[in-house]
Amino acid sequence: MIYVAPSLLAADFANLEASVKRVTDAGANYLHLDVMDGAFVPNFSFGTPVISALRRHSKLIFDVHLMINDPIRYIDDFVKAGADIITFHVESCDDPAAVIRAIRAREVRCGLAVSPATPVERLLPYLPDIQMALIMTVVPGFGGQSFMPEMLEKVRAVRKVADRDRLKLDIEVDGGLNAENIGQATAAGANVIVAGSAIFKSKKPKLTISSMRSAAVMNPYKG
Ligand code: DX5
Ligand code: ZN
Repeated sequence: MIYVAPSLLAADFANLEASVKRVTDAGANYLHLDVMDGAFVPNFSFGTPVISALRRHSKLIFDVHLMINDPIRYIDDFVKAGADIITFHVESCDDPAAVIRAIRAREVRCGLAVSPATPVERLLPYLPDIQMALIMTVVPGFGGQSFMPEMLEKVRAVRKVADRDRLKLDIEVDGGLNAENIGQATAAGANVIVAGSAIFKSKKPKLTISSMRSAAVMNPYKG
């Protein structure tokens, strides 16, 4: 199953409720929520108040992508705000295993992300303990950047280990995805596709999401 996750970062921040409704009606599976602290990445976005406010208006799976230092400090807050999946960066803390334990102690799914400059080997030891690996296909911090196809090597590496070890693992790709390049990502083994600009800036988001799904179906992972 392919899950399409529009990134709220590309929405009209003056009209969040309407923006979420628009992508929900267009067929989104998840709502990808990029949290930035101005320290782990050189940008700010939004935090728990915005997520809990939207939670009251949406039944989508809330896919929270933490781009913050020392995420363990805030896991409880994001659970309370309504996160269904919490993903943090392997580069953002000294003890990823402790953060994974903190997330898994709650009723939420755990994801672990890797930035373009970080080797995928940093992720591999944690795969048995997480539900989702997030391979960044842009340098985190900003929406609207170009997809880095060379990151698909990491997707293939993770999918290979997951297959070998029979792990039930989602692989998410994030950054610069659209209907033109989604097929490369699904063929490499990704099944959760984040798209900010491509969906929120589209005049016909329903058509955009259905074109993305068809391109994904035409380019399945074959092992
Ligand atoms: C980048 C964020 C992405 C970004 C995706 O730091 O993690 O989720 O918003 O947006 P697009 O699809 O516009 O690259
Ligand atoms: Zn993201």
